[in-house]
Amino acid sequence: MGHALGTLEELPLAYRAALARNSLAPLWPMMRNVLPHGAPQPVSRQNLWRFETLRPLLLEAGDLTPVEKAERRVLVLTDPGRGEGAMQATSVIYVGMQLLKPGETAPAHRHTPSAARIIVEGEGAYTVVDGEKCPMHRGDLVLTPGGAWHDHGHSGTEPVIWLDALDLPLFVYLEGSYAEEAPLQAPRNRPDASEAEYLSAGLVPSRRPDRAPVSRYPMLRYPWSRTEAALRSLGALAAPGEAVELDYVNPETGESCLPTLGFTAMLLRPGEKATPPLRSSSAVFHVISGTGTSTVNGERFAWGPADTFSAPVFSTLTHEADGTEPAFLIRIHDRPLQERLGYFEERVRP
Ligand SMILES: [Fe+2]
Repeated sequence: MGHALGTLEELPLAYRAALARNSLAPLWPMMRNVLPHGAPQPVSRQNLWRFETLRPLLLEAGDLTPVEKAERRVLVLTDPGRGEGAMQATSVIYVGMQLLKPGETAPAHRHTPSAARIIVEGEGAYTVVDGEKCPMHRGDLVLTPGGAWHDHGHSGTEPVIWLDALDLPLFVYLEGSYAEEAPLQAPRNRPDASEAEYLSAGLVPSRRPDRAPVSRYPMLRYPWSRTEAALRSLGALAAPGEAVELDYVNPETGESCLPTLGFTAMLLRPGEKATPPLRSSSAVFHVISGTGTSTVNGERFAWGPADTFSAPVFSTLTHEADGTEPAFLIRIHDRPLQERLGYFEERVRP
């Protein structure tokens, strides 16, 4: 048991003023704010963003602001725990919904934060990442790692909407966030690596000493059609009562596909209820299809396709799919960062 710590009020005013004048502060009155006992006390608060609410506002942004004036036309999903306009959903995770109208382009840029997109609605858009043209079909995960040039184009006939996920808050905190701009890239005339080098799980191109070393990010696109098929196969075999989950990994190393953010595809079978452990990581869940209910720290979120909800670090969570069809979600989380820092943990709930 610790002793009750002294407060600021116990210190003479003149002493406090002298400290402040000299850019000094006593630690002990603030100690529990920065080092609470037992578990962190997150500032972030869980939230549900319904697509049916967000979508018309995003389409309106398409009328109000031409893409040239937006560079990236995005509505940020802001953490209610941090007040209006917070450029983040959790401590480390930024998510925003981006709109690209037919014929529009978003110019090439690259930046220190890493990003991934999950395609929500519309066909015909593509992202070019360091010259590799990645088609964007619903549910696909497309990576734009930190430092990779990326631009977006759209040759379809309807608006396209996708969810961007970035480790931007971390880079802002590190005072490491910046971007560079360039004209649109000329894509190479070949399919992306998911359709060529990494078409089949367990097979990678043979390496020879005279060939260039494998890129740190060899596969940039994870097609949803394959992810869903893999979840369904596993779901037919897995014991009930626990969500079936697959991690998106680097096919060459088995490590997380980005350095700080992790992505997990989840299947809840019809009527299934899952109770994940308490995790030190924060998360944002995006619903690909199906309906259900999750409770996050006691707050109940009824969700459907394209809805998005957040869970701060150490959230108590339950997920339940409605009874008639399976539910597919993608969980964005910051476990890779926490593992690199050596403090990721899971606690079995009592
Ligand atoms: Fe970007």
